[in-house]
Amino acid sequence: MAREPADVPLGIIHTMSGTLDTLLAEDRLFPPSLEFRSQANVSNPAIYAEAHRNPVEFWESCAKSLEWSRGWHTALEWNLPDAKWFVGGTLNACHNCVDRHVSAGHGDKVAFVSEGEPGDVRVFTYRQVLETVCKIANALKEAGVQKGDRVCVYMPMIAELPMVMLACARIGAAHSVVFGGFSSESLHERINDAGAKVLVTADGGWRRGGVVELKRIADEALAKGCPTISRCLVYERIGSPLADGVPNYNPGTWIEGRDLAWSEFVDRQPVDCPCEDMDSEDLLFILYTSGSTGKPKGIMHTTGGYMTQVSATTQWVFDFKPDDVYWCTADCGWVTGHSYIVYGPMSLGAKQVLYEGTPDTPDKDRFWKVIERHKVTILYTAPTAIRTFMKWGPEFPGRCDLTSLRLLGSVGEPINPEAWIWYSETIGGSRCPVVDTWWQTETGAIMISPLPGVTATKPGSATQPLPGIHAAVFDENGKDVTPCHGALSYMVGSESLDQGPEVGGILAIKHPWPSMLRGIWGDPERFRQVYWSRFDGAYFPGDGTKVDEDGYFWLLGRIDDVMLVSGHNISTMEVESALVDHHAVAEAAVIGKAHEIKGQGIAAFVILRAEFAANSWPEGKGDSHDLVSELKSHVAQKIGAIARPDDIFICAELPKTRSGKIMRRLLRDVAEGRALGDTTTLADPSVVANLKDKYESSEG
Ligand code: WT7
Repeated sequence: MAREPADVPLGIIHTMSGTLDTLLAEDRLFPPSLEFRSQANVSNPAIYAEAHRNPVEFWESCAKSLEWSRGWHTALEWNLPDAKWFVGGTLNACHNCVDRHVSAGHGDKVAFVSEGEPGDVRVFTYRQVLETVCKIANALKEAGVQKGDRVCVYMPMIAELPMVMLACARIGAAHSVVFGGFSSESLHERINDAGAKVLVTADGGWRRGGVVELKRIADEALAKGCPTISRCLVYERIGSPLADGVPNYNPGTWIEGRDLAWSEFVDRQPVDCPCEDMDSEDLLFILYTSGSTGKPKGIMHTTGGYMTQVSATTQWVFDFKPDDVYWCTADCGWVTGHSYIVYGPMSLGAKQVLYEGTPDTPDKDRFWKVIERHKVTILYTAPTAIRTFMKWGPEFPGRCDLTSLRLLGSVGEPINPEAWIWYSETIGGSRCPVVDTWWQTETGAIMISPLPGVTATKPGSATQPLPGIHAAVFDENGKDVTPCHGALSYMVGSESLDQGPEVGGILAIKHPWPSMLRGIWGDPERFRQVYWSRFDGAYFPGDGTKVDEDGYFWLLGRIDDVMLVSGHNISTMEVESALVDHHAVAEAAVIGKAHEIKGQGIAAFVILRAEFAANSWPEGKGDSHDLVSELKSHVAQKIGAIARPDDIFICAELPKTRSGKIMRRLLRDVAEGRALGDTTTLADPSVVANLKDKYESSEG
């Protein structure tokens, strides 16, 4: 892999605390190729200026690409914190994602290629999706679901999951999808918070060669008391434990009168079901996301504005074309699956791949096999996955033909430049634009991202706010310190307009956007307090950001992930990035650790690449390792002496949530010798327990 040493001297960032060193000197620039630009959906940078002149009119023009049953009379009503978009308009999200493609003559186009982990592949055309969705919708109605009700969905990542979501949208019920990796306790809490009337689940799902016992877990959740649930609809994904090829698993306990078998109840339903006319501001779904307190927040999204922005951003950012084969590796249990599997791509009539299982089953080349088999053209995945693939080595993608790919996307956390470059070169063959997309469950749709036919990308930067999005950087006192403010000159791509020096601070969104959250279910006060009380008149996403002299945003992670080392603000991500830049390192997690003199010192947990781990660097702090001191020097050299890690701990695994985020809070507990905090959201709580043991024995 070609890497140019960053030779840019430490720049100066003006921040709330005066100045701070800029620690990440990444100056590689990747302009769109002529070839890509000439075919791109968006290739004229004037779109930024057009949107900026009148954002509301701009979003109105985007909304017109949907089918509305009645037009709106007012594009935006904005009474902070309450936004209403396309007021007076009516539409149905399912109609826009399914029916209208069938009516337009695309009924035979493939909607889903659903690949199960055991290797079963099922294909659904748009016409088949329409029929199945109608049957599910009729089944939900027969089970008592009415317009305005909530339906909780707890399913594996197979085609029936998006079809249940669409069926809810069809009849005007809001879905609340709970990721299939959550525990019975989390499911119980979410069912009751939303007051769901029906639970849709499956007997199980395949994961890493075994069965996730969804129905058994759902039974456990319901047994804890869910007074609003009257029916539980169960899709038979696995089948009888006594059947051939089915491992012994616990399919739960069938409760007559409550439980409904899909094969009987759904399959016999009629194949037509009218779409409910929904108000633009009617609730489309609730999706729970964790906050700083223990109680999850039920983020509410409504219909017209949400559909408008997910549809438009799919078109721009993924440069979506009718013959693309699109694969987003997220699960529908996360917002990425809602916006960029179901509502965005389907509103454009996409053909997409769904994959049920893990990337290492049966072997570590599974993702690349899926791409080869289905000739995927657009891949959307997460940095944590990319770094895992780096750790496994190039051998696995090397076995497969990836030449069908033409665009790569990343989402979920900051992507360090080395992972970006690896993704671009090893997966994209240096031919595919990489779009690093910043957004949140709360924003509903992509907010900051390159336009692949317009933007010159910089590895590690999500680049610029999309047209119609007013992102800014504020200082600690809530003052707008964005360079090139006013006309946001950089968005227009004009070099003659003012450009400011680089600044660091807190990300803010200054103008309402169509897919913004409309509230926290049942808790308007928390909504106001979490998102709208930090700044006066602007939305507070909770992320730190740097904006460079070209107006590029460098999202630095949650603002609580910023370390203060000897009074210098250092992002954990910047140190991680420098560590991963070293050829021996696959993945790194960095935390600020209480330090007598510096306030915070820097502790790094490092996973080595396979070749080095195989060289048997033992797990542990390994102060005597040559490699450890080499890594410390590498960081110091890459960023500056201030960022030299105090401790480097070599480990085999890092504690991650089920969505793949490293829980740095737990690493702080380990490094500071505290009892471990709440570990219930971890994918595997034993990882951090082991880590703590090894950390303590290597300290002693
Ligand atoms: C948080 C939102 C967006 C869907 C999946 C995550 C971080 C997300 C990026 C990115 C840097 C990113 C932010 C954000 N994040 N994408 N491209 N670069 N950070 O949704 O669970 O609601 O998390 O993820 O910190 O606030 P979420």
